[in-house]
Order: sequence, then structure tokens, then C-alpha cells
Amino acid sequence: MRFIDQLDIAGKKLLMRVDFNVPLDGDTITDDNRIKAAVPTFKYALEQGASVIVMAHLGKPKGKRVDSLSLAPAAKRLGEYLGMEVPLAPDCIGSEVEKMAAALKPGQVMMLENLRFHAEEQAKTPEERGDFGKQLAALADIYVNDAFGVAHRANASVVDVPYAAKDCCAGFLLKLEWEYLGEALKNARKPYIAVSGGAKVSSKLGILNNLIGKVDDFIIGGAMANTFLLAQGKGVGKSLVEESLVDTAKEIIDKAAASGTTLHLPTDFVWGKDIDVAQGVCDGDSVPEDGMLLDIGPESTKKFCEVIERSKTIVWNGPMGLFEKEPFAQGSLKVCEAMADLDDATTIVGGGDTDAVVHQAKLEDKFTFISTGGGSFLEFLEGKELPAFKALKENS
Ligand code: 3PG
Repeated sequence: MRFIDQLDIAGKKLLMRVDFNVPLDGDTITDDNRIKAAVPTFKYALEQGASVIVMAHLGKPKGKRVDSLSLAPAAKRLGEYLGMEVPLAPDCIGSEVEKMAAALKPGQVMMLENLRFHAEEQAKTPEERGDFGKQLAALADIYVNDAFGVAHRANASVVDVPYAAKDCCAGFLLKLEWEYLGEALKNARKPYIAVSGGAKVSSKLGILNNLIGKVDDFIIGGAMANTFLLAQGKGVGKSLVEESLVDTAKEIIDKAAASGTTLHLPTDFVWGKDIDVAQGVCDGDSVPEDGMLLDIGPESTKKFCEVIERSKTIVWNGPMGLFEKEPFAQGSLKVCEAMADLDDATTIVGGGDTDAVVHQAKLEDKFTFISTGGGSFLEFLEGKELPAFKALKENS
């Protein structure tokens, strides 16, 4: 795989795939981290005398034009970061777009409208995707992929354009993600630990299976811990659980015991009858029938923080509780602070909710790396080869 600084891009037109799938409130961007994270690649390209045609998706318009999912706010924000106008094309393919792309001068940037306004972008088979990728590739000289957040999607702009393009490479953001996440898996300094949370065991099975046996400790919090509690014969009241995965949870407990990975499950909890008020702390044997376990308790928090304090590499995905609600935020915030306090450890965070915890704690500068990926971060840590990397490796 080649990176953008290994190609001569002076005077070339770059077609750059980015992940600007940012949260919006109306047309106001509420979190622009993904845009900010791609800026170094743009700055480098412009300094080298290239021009850039940006392509991205927003939301799930399912192949139809949806005005509220226009990339106009993202084009405006990118322009603010670059200190220049970034005009938005009316579409991502077609004669109007071709004219705009042809007129682009070195040092200029333009953005294509939401790729997902065309069903071909996400169509499953190459036949259904047709020549959509070819039409995109024809707009430029070099395809640059800097969209880690969408690296797990076999979409036309990710897997077809690199084969159709004259040349291609990865941008600096993709390089960073590749280095940090790859490094964390292959050459982690020990003790190496994984911290996982969030609502569902089902979405974390791949990580659990891949990392158990590789990490020294695996900490589990959040609602996904409830399924493990059931597997241990404990009560969970009215809490969110995946009953169909209780046997799988038992297998994971056994696998960890046999593999040398110590599994840490919470032993006390902050519970509530609703999601706004904390009623108190209970353990797994005293969960009220009408109660929901909504955060890890003080004893579990202390235990988890002690494991974190002696670690040299940490990969974290998923909050410890319902951190969006103040009464249930303590577990996630304390775990976050324990990681941020480490002087000599590699701390890697991924996923939207986990990223939100780190920002809520205002500790983003204290982490080694915050991935821009959600699903792609999980799939990378599951040990899968992501379609974006496969396509880049085969074409550059
Ligand atoms: C994300 O937000 O995780 C990426 O942009 C991928 O979006 P998707 O889940 O809609 O494919």
C-alpha cells in the first residue's frame, strides 16, 4: 500500500474519499472531528500543488436525493479549515460535475454531493454498481482514500474506484489509523488490555473472540456486561440483556479462563427505575426486580481503574454505562480519567460513544490516538481485512 507522500502529486487532480459522516442538528455540525482529522492530507496536497475533488457520504439516503443529507455544511466547514471556498457540485457524477472537475486549478478544492444519493454506491454486486466507480474515477488523475470510518464498507467509492483509477494511494488519516490500530494488535507493549462496553454483546463478539488470548486483561462494562451476569447466574432486573447470547457469554468466560486472559466483569452497579434518577448501588445478587443496571458501581470502577493503571497498551471501545445521563456517567468518566492519567502507555479509543465520553471529560489530548472509525474500528480489531485496505493494496 502506498501513501500520498510516496507519489508525485504536483499539478495532479486528486479524487479524495473522506468520511465526513458527521452528526448534524439541522444544518449545524455538532461534532466536526472527522473533518478536522482529514485536514492534514488536504493541506499537504494543496502545498504540493495538487487540486482536490472531495467525495463523501452522509447518513443513509438509500439511493435518493434527500436535501437534509446534503454535504453543504461539510463543504462549508472544510472551507473554513482550509481558509478557502470549497464549492459543492450539484451531484457526484454527470456532465455538470465533469465540467466543474475539468475547470479545477492546482491549489483548489471542490466537493461532490452525497455519494449515497445514488443507489449504486452501496449496491451489493459489481453488476448493480455498474460503471458508477468508473465515472467517479474518470474525474481525476489519482484516487486517495482517507476515509477510515467507511473502510469496512464494500461501497463503490471504496472498492471500485481504486481499480478504475489511473493511480491510487492512502491519505495521512488512513495511514495513522493503519499504524496505530495495526501496531496495537501486533506489537502491543504488555500488559496489554482491552476495555469494552456499550449496549450489546452481539456487536462485540468479534473483538472478544479475536482479542481473548492476545490481551492480558479484558474489562467488560456497560449493558453488555448484563448478559455475562445472567451467564453467571446473577440477577439483572429489568436491564437490557441479550438472553439468546447467555450460552455464548459462558463460552467466552471459559475461553478466557483457558487462554490466559483475565476477564474483569463488574460486581456492583448503579441502578435506576428509569434512566433519569439513580436509586442506589447494588451487587449482582441484590438487583431489584424493577431496577435497571445503568452504570458500574464504585467497587467495580476502582477494580477496573487498578487494572488500567498497570497497563502499557489499552484499546477501549464502548462506555461503562449510560454516560449521556449524569447520574450514570461516573463509571465511564473515571475509567477515562484513569487512562488519561497514564504517562507511559499507548491508549487507543474508537467508536462514537467512547469518543463522546473522552470529549465530555475534555481529555482528548491525553489519549495516544482517537480513531475516527465506528464499525470500521471494531472490524479492524476483530482482525478482519477491511475492503478499503484490500483494494488499496491490490492497486498501489
Ligand atoms: C460511520 O459513521 O461509522 C461511517 O461513516 C459508516 O457509515 P455507515 O454505517 O452508514 O455505513
